[in-house]
Amino acid sequence: MNPYQTFLQFTIETARAAGQVIRQGAQNGFDARQKGVRDFVTDVDLAAERTIIQAIRDQFPTHDILSEETPPEQRNSRYQWIIDPLDGTGNFVHHFPHFATSIALAYDDRPIAGVVYDPIQERLFAAAVGAGATLNGQTLRVSSNQDWLNTQIGMDWSRDEQIRPQIVRVIGELAVHSGSIRCSGSAALGICYVAAGWWDAYFHLQLSAWDAAAGAVIVREAGGVVTDTAGQPWRPGTGAVIASNGALHEQFCGHVNRGRKKAFTR
Ligand code: 2AM
Ligand code: CA
Repeated sequence: MNPYQTFLQFTIETARAAGQVIRQGAQNGFDARQKGVRDFVTDVDLAAERTIIQAIRDQFPTHDILSEETPPEQRNSRYQWIIDPLDGTGNFVHHFPHFATSIALAYDDRPIAGVVYDPIQERLFAAAVGAGATLNGQTLRVSSNQDWLNTQIGMDWSRDEQIRPQIVRVIGELAVHSGSIRCSGSAALGICYVAAGWWDAYFHLQLSAWDAAAGAVIVREAGGVVTDTAGQPWRPGTGAVIASNGALHEQFCGHVNRGRKKAFTR
């Protein structure tokens, strides 16, 4: 049996429980407050987070927890749960039904198991190192596409004013070289779409660990590659995320880096 199977099964059950909280919140209404520029939190984010943290505390009381809406605690364990209780809160507050809960377990800062669950479409993406990646139990595989002009590239915006012009320049570069560019508002789901082979690659210039930790293990187990902009393996704390089917990876990093550095001309 895969050594991480127990962790993965627990993560799947916990993500489903959080998904239930989010689905009910979307149906019954919620209170939102702005926590920063272009940044919202709702009582549903907090309720889903309470569900996840309580389950971890009950099952794995010695493990560390890093979760978006809770101040980080001091590290004590080699195991760390990395949680975004509701990724895509911007979509959620606009009643656009595209958001997910994302739960990963890292060991020595390497994601070893992860689940991203979209409670509206009822799509559960899951993986553990050595166990493969699945969508609702079906094995996932990244695309084999190497034909740049027929690529589908996913991306998401950052809230940061310094980063946004860089994103526009990367889009300008990719507009010339790729097939098409998609933006969904949930980085956790966008990264999983690479694992599913629906998108050939995905970039985000500024993510938190909780947006990408589960997606990273899911893409890798589906045969893809997840790095920073220099091509180094993505780890919690990396910031930028470049995920691809592998075949396109080196060129994709090149396009992203060229776009970022280009002078912004009219
Ligand atoms: P969030 O919903 O948890 O805030 C689209 O905006 C996607 O990018 C969302 O997944 C969002 O995460 C993430 N995102 C946007 N700006 C970000 C930033 N400055 N840092 C981290 N994640 C960001
Ligand atoms: Ca969130």
